[in-house]
Amino acid sequence: MKNGALPPRLTEEGRFFENLSFLFQPPASDGPGTRTGGTTMRILSGIQPSGALHLGNYFGAIRQFVELQNTPGEHLYFIANLHALTTVRKGDDLRRYTMEVALNFLALGLDPKKCILFRQSDVPYHAELNWILGVLTPMALLERGHSYKDKLARGFSADFGLFAYPVLMAADILLYRADQVPVGKDQKQHLEIARDIATKFNLAYVEGYDAQDPEGKESRKHRPGLLKLPEPLTLDASAVVPGTDGQKMSKSYGNTIDLFGTDKELKKQIMSGIVTDSTPVEAPKDPDKSNLFMLLKLFLTPSETEELRQSFLKGGTGYGAYKKQLLEAFHAAFDPARQKRAELEKDMGAVEAILQEGAQRAEAIARPVIEEVRAAVGITGR
Ligand code: ADP
Ligand code: TRP
Repeated sequence: MKNGALPPRLTEEGRFFENLSFLFQPPASDGPGTRTGGTTMRILSGIQPSGALHLGNYFGAIRQFVELQNTPGEHLYFIANLHALTTVRKGDDLRRYTMEVALNFLALGLDPKKCILFRQSDVPYHAELNWILGVLTPMALLERGHSYKDKLARGFSADFGLFAYPVLMAADILLYRADQVPVGKDQKQHLEIARDIATKFNLAYVEGYDAQDPEGKESRKHRPGLLKLPEPLTLDASAVVPGTDGQKMSKSYGNTIDLFGTDKELKKQIMSGIVTDSTPVEAPKDPDKSNLFMLLKLFLTPSETEELRQSFLKGGTGYGAYKKQLLEAFHAAFDPARQKRAELEKDMGAVEAILQEGAQRAEAIARPVIEEVRAAVGITGR
């Protein structure tokens, strides 16, 4: 790949956008970026500030955010600092990670002119809606959570925050009546939980709501839900990115390749961190069993991937050479963003101002929703 070129799917817009065409359904909309009825399509997602961002976060989530902001509609991306409290227990760390995500969002191409960037805790309605939804969330729904079960299996303490994590996530989404939520595959279940919770709320508080007809379009007797059922936006491009040890890449597993590590750290993560088997240089290698192949593939076009596959099958190239190729591809793709980040870091006041402005805009969207919710549940008068 050429020096300075972005990973293929970032530049080959045509191909990527083809996959996004379903975003603008139903086709009978009132114009680009609008749903029937003239309202704007709203896309929302969040990232936890719980550590350094890695290749999995980029290919599974942020790359999609950056592409999506150029599509019609309203785009909200936030830093889920309340969620991160479930794992980050030092105030200074959380503050630092939060500003790092803000920097990373901006460096990787999220543009405050095209989307609303904000910090979750700056819009206090998230926490309020979290409670209102929590009272009607069945324990059994949360007990089925993969993410919770997985964290327990890995020795995290079974506290309330971790257990109730999907309820806060549902609040994040439902508060804005988001239509689409771009997330990696691992978050899909959380989206289903958000839909279940929205349905419970609507059944409890909206007279005439029919769960089979959530928009209330099929019969005059049906009323639309107060909370909108969100759709996940998982593209095939957001398949799980393997870590250096072959498990899913994750901050909590210590197997990451970090987007903004120092050159030295990156070299270490790639050259010595990636685990390979002991196949000798000259022997053929199985690409489908190789995490190194899967990582390299992220940076390659389909024809380059095919070439690489043939090279693996043929033998004669050692894992060390492939690692070197990965390191070069990484730098070619991310060095421009790494430089931009270094520039942005010189003026953290400007970054904070972007978050503040984003919070005001987000709050203005959320306010009418939380006011309707308060009235429906009986906290305020109608
Ligand atoms: P981590 O597992 O490192 O804590 P997060 O849970 O904060 O990562 O994930 C942030 C976003 O990045 C989510 O949308 C998630 O789906 C995506 N993501 C994280 N790890 C991967 C991965 N290995 N492959 C694909 N997407 C990922
Ligand atoms: N749970 C998500 C993750 O770990 C982060 C998140 C929190 C989120 N709230 C959200 C994602 C709302 C999408 C929508 O990646």
